[in-house]
This record gives sequence, structure tokens and C-alpha cells, in this order.
Amino acid sequence: MENQKDRGSFSKIGFILAAAGSSIGLGNLWKFPYLTGQNGGGVFVVIYLIIIATIGFTCMLGEMAIGKYTKLNPIGAYKKIASKWKFVGVLGILVPFMIVTYYNIIGGWVLKYIVESVMGHLPGIAGDSENFFTSYVSSGGAPIFFTLLFVIINAIIIQAGVSSGIERASKVLMPTLFALLIVIAIRSVTLPGAGAGLEFYLKPDFSKLTLGTVTAALGQCFFSLSLGMGAMITYGSYLPDSSNIEKDSIVVPLLDTCAALLAGFAILPAVFAFGFEPSAGPGLIFITLPAVFDSMPLGSLWAVIFFILVLFAAITSSVSLIENPTSWLIDSYDMDRKKATWLVCFIAFLIAIPEALSMGIWSGITFPPMAMNFFDEVSYIAESILMPAAGFFMCIVIGHVWGMDNFEKAVTNNGEFPFKSKGFVSVMIKYIAPFAILCIWLNSSGILGLFMK
Ligand code: TRP
Repeated sequence: MENQKDRGSFSKIGFILAAAGSSIGLGNLWKFPYLTGQNGGGVFVVIYLIIIATIGFTCMLGEMAIGKYTKLNPIGAYKKIASKWKFVGVLGILVPFMIVTYYNIIGGWVLKYIVESVMGHLPGIAGDSENFFTSYVSSGGAPIFFTLLFVIINAIIIQAGVSSGIERASKVLMPTLFALLIVIAIRSVTLPGAGAGLEFYLKPDFSKLTLGTVTAALGQCFFSLSLGMGAMITYGSYLPDSSNIEKDSIVVPLLDTCAALLAGFAILPAVFAFGFEPSAGPGLIFITLPAVFDSMPLGSLWAVIFFILVLFAAITSSVSLIENPTSWLIDSYDMDRKKATWLVCFIAFLIAIPEALSMGIWSGITFPPMAMNFFDEVSYIAESILMPAAGFFMCIVIGHVWGMDNFEKAVTNNGEFPFKSKGFVSVMIKYIAPFAILCIWLNSSGILGLFMK
């Protein structure tokens, strides 16, 4: 396939690192701790782990198989394996694009915190971290500037191409991030008063279990593992046939989950130790961490290093979000990589502007159908509605259209590898995963609510 050459390809370890790099990002470091805080603590963690091990693993394997088999971007891939279901691939271009618009904003917040820590402002922020965060994100101009900066950094990295840009960065930075998370978690857990946070985090209180908890956990599973929108199809498309994706689809979620759990240990005990609100929402890590760093010797230095690593984790993820629409432009419109990258980044930035403003001066303006502000609306539609929908259709396509035999051939490379989880995966992908996703989807889309009235 000449086409494949132009698209570049991964080495085996490079693939794991890049796939882990895509999945480990703001979803783990920023989102997982605050969702845990908002959804009852330990009970959310338990539900999340169950969903990762079942639906997460299955969908990960499914996406990698489609990518590896077709060697195409999501739209091309679905066209090839099930031509009537091309629209699932369309979701795989549209949804990452929607996500990248606001992912860039959060990436911009991280840049802002790097700058503040470098300038030695951390102790001041730590004393008033809630106010600092709230007034910053609602301030309009500065968050938009830092969003732009983050977008430009991404575009520069991604236009360098797949193996040189993404692979090289992942190799060094991911392990360093883990090491630093461990250090911060140790500090957080040993703070006076951390015990209540540990209990909140680790002791599930099943009386707090609601349908909302499960919806949030499922959405987070897809978001954190980069599933349901073809990111892993795209990465899988760069894989040599001889790679064992059954193993990869265990290793990648495992690494991703370790990162999320560690982030929980770094944040939640400290939230209780400092008396913050666990349900504070998206600002949770930005409010909590300055206080944690301030309680460490050489706090500003730790803060700079940590936020830089978060930045890299965010970049390896946003690069994968941008990669989808970009590789589609390259494949379908013969655009060159540079042009495609800048085009995607530029449009994403334009959309980020009203999103950023919707946290400040435009916060009162809401949109149908969810009647949320622009930022919340885009993220809810992408994560809670479109992503699970894509996951649902993927299971149906693999299980019932493309068929288990083809799927098995792709996984085993025509019999070269064993497919140990075949029985489990086949029941999951044909019946259990789509059914579970459908139920949760009906709830999050509000359709279930119409019938329950
Ligand atoms: N998984 C990333 C995170 O946790 C976000 C992300 C990157 C993503 N690429 C994706 C989510 C593709 C869905 C699909 O931060």
C-alpha cells in the first residue's frame, strides 16, 4: 500500500507509548479526580474500574483491530469493513474535533499555572486558590491567549509527523510523569487530615450510587481511554501486522488507570486536608495542587516540573485528537500534513473562543438542546452523547456486520497469535457492551427521562 508509506508507521513499543500517551492526559489528571469528587468518591472508583475492565478493554481491542486491519482513518476504515456504517467513522472525525476545541482551553489553564509557578506566585495563589482560579477562567482575554499558545505548540509538534513527533516525546515524559505523581501522592496522603480524603476515595458508599454515577463513569471510560471516536483506529492504522493488539489493549488501559488512580491519590486526600469542596468540579486540581505544593519544601520548583509534565501529557493527548481530523484531510483530500494540521488547529481555536467566554461574560447564554452554556453544551454532547453512541455502533458493526471471524483474523494476524479472551470479548462486543452503553446513553441523552415522567 503506497498510501501507508506517506502516513508513517509505529514501532511496537512506540505504539504502546503513543497509545498510552493519547489516553493518559487531562482525562486522568484533571477530570478523573474531579469526577470522583462529584460522584460520591469510592463508589465512582469501583464502577469506573468495572467499566474499564469490561467495556473499556473490549472497545479498545475493537478499535485497534479495525485500525490495524484497514490501515485507514476512521471514515475510510468503516467504509472498508461495513460500507453502510460509514457514519460511525464520521463521528470519529467530528467528536475528537469537538473535544479538541475545549481540551485546548484546559491545556491553556495548565500553561497559565506553569507561568505563575515560574514567576514564584504559587504561595500567593495557594492562600486564595479558589478565587484565583475562578476569576482567572472567567477573565476572557488571558485564557484565550493561553489557549492559542497551547494550540500553536500542538500544531508544531503534530506537523512533524507521527513517529518523530509523538513517539519521541512519549518515551521520556510518561515515565517521569508517573514518578512525579507518586511523589505528590505521598505528600498528599501524609498531610494532616488526609485520612478523611482517603476514606472518601477508597471506601465505596453504595448508598451514593445513582444512574448518574454510572453515566459519568462510562463517559469517563471512553474519554480517558480515547475511545469511541476512532483515535485508536487511527493509531492502530499505523501498526505493523505483526503486533499483538490483545496484549496492547490490556497494557494501555492498565497504564491509563494507574495514572488516574495516582492522580486521585495526589488530589483527594489533599482536598480534605485543606478543607476544599470535593465536588468543586473542573477547577479541583487547579485549586488543590497549589496548596499541596506550597506545603512541600521547594514547592514552586515541584509545581513548575509537575505542570510541565501535565502539559506534555495533555499535548500527547491533544495531538491524538487533532490527528484524527488531520489524517482524514490527508487521506481524503490529499492535503499535505502541514496544511491539514494548521487548518484543523485554526478552526478549533476559533471555536474555543466562545467556549472560553462562556465561562465568563457569556456564561448566561445557553443553547438548545441541553440548555447549557456553550462550553458545557459542546462537552456534554461530545462526551455523554456522541462518544457512547460511537462505541455502541462500533460494537454492533464488529459483532454483527464485520463479524467475529474477521475480527479474530485481525486480532490474531491470521492465526499468528492466540486470542485468549475470545469468548469474553465476543459476548461483550455482541451483546453486553452495546446493551449497557445503550441504557446509559438513553439516560444521559435525556430520552429515558421522557419516559419516566
Ligand atoms: N484520553 C485523553 C485524556 O484522557 C483525551 C483524548 C485524547 C481522547 N484523544 C482522545 C478522548 C480521543 C477521546 C478520543 O485526556
